[in-house]
Amino acid sequence: MISKASAPGKVILFGEHFVVYGTSAVLGAIDIRVTANSEIINENKIIIESDFGKISVHPKKPLNQVKTSFKPFLHIAKKMLVESKPNEGIKIKIESKIPPGVGLGSSSACCVAAAGAVSKLFSIHSKHDILNLAIEAEKTIFNETSGADNTICMYGGLIEYNTKKGFRKIDNTPDMQLLVINSGQIHSTKKIVKNVRTFRERNPQIFQKLTRMESRLIKKALQAIKENDLVTLGRYMVENQSYLEKIGVSTDRIRSILQIINNTTLGAKITGAGGGGCVIALADSSKIKQAVRQIKENDYDCFSAKIDFKGLDTF
Ligand code: PMV
Repeated sequence: MISKASAPGKVILFGEHFVVYGTSAVLGAIDIRVTANSEIINENKIIIESDFGKISVHPKKPLNQVKTSFKPFLHIAKKMLVESKPNEGIKIKIESKIPPGVGLGSSSACCVAAAGAVSKLFSIHSKHDILNLAIEAEKTIFNETSGADNTICMYGGLIEYNTKKGFRKIDNTPDMQLLVINSGQIHSTKKIVKNVRTFRERNPQIFQKLTRMESRLIKKALQAIKENDLVTLGRYMVENQSYLEKIGVSTDRIRSILQIINNTTLGAKITGAGGGGCVIALADSSKIKQAVRQIKENDYDCFSAKIDFKGLDTF
């Protein structure tokens, strides 16, 4: 039996980094996807394959003895096999259209798609269980994850996420056209989150003040979303970017992109960890062609994206 699942990438509209320390974050799934194919095989092996290579590992081999970026998928396969089919194996193939390491949720979408595909092989359909498996998988590479990315890739749409209160789907979302601009600088979320932790330790008062400001901004942003007020929402994104700038996760390339699109979009900011990665901009429909032209003239890659409402899809 073969089971397939796909999951969307994501953007963080508000709250990255601060979410790790208790504020809410507002995230949206975007219409660019990862697909995972999985099947039970007769050999007692776990085989993982993607554009980045192929590995074959015995299911009983401890994870800490395997040096691979495929650890999340090994975790998913090992856990399911050991619990249900100790003498068989699993093959997982990942196909992704999401650029990795640039804040678009590539690893989370991969974890959710793989958890969804493998769970289906074992007749597990609970979204809650699949999400927990995906978060456990992600923690094999990034133990400090807030879980926000996996949650949005799982449920799709727009959500408000909080590590303590969980998540809430945001209804009646405005029709948002986003531009995603890649700075071309790959980041390590783990490293940037660690840098922010150091910043927080060295500047506790500044960080606390910014956290309070972020919380207030998110409340106002949720209201702007409710009122379908994209102009105000764009302004709040610019405000959020100024906080991210203060905690040191912006770069010269990010600042140059923000400068280029300053007059042709409603607002823009980093999405995700920063330190490079992508900028998201709320497009102004009357100036979108001009914005794309300016971005391309400056040799940055960009694509337009819409909110994906489906989340995990199994088939
Ligand atoms: O992995 P990225 O680049 O999408 O960033 C994740 C968002 C952070 O808030 C920086 C970390 C987290 O786990 O929430």
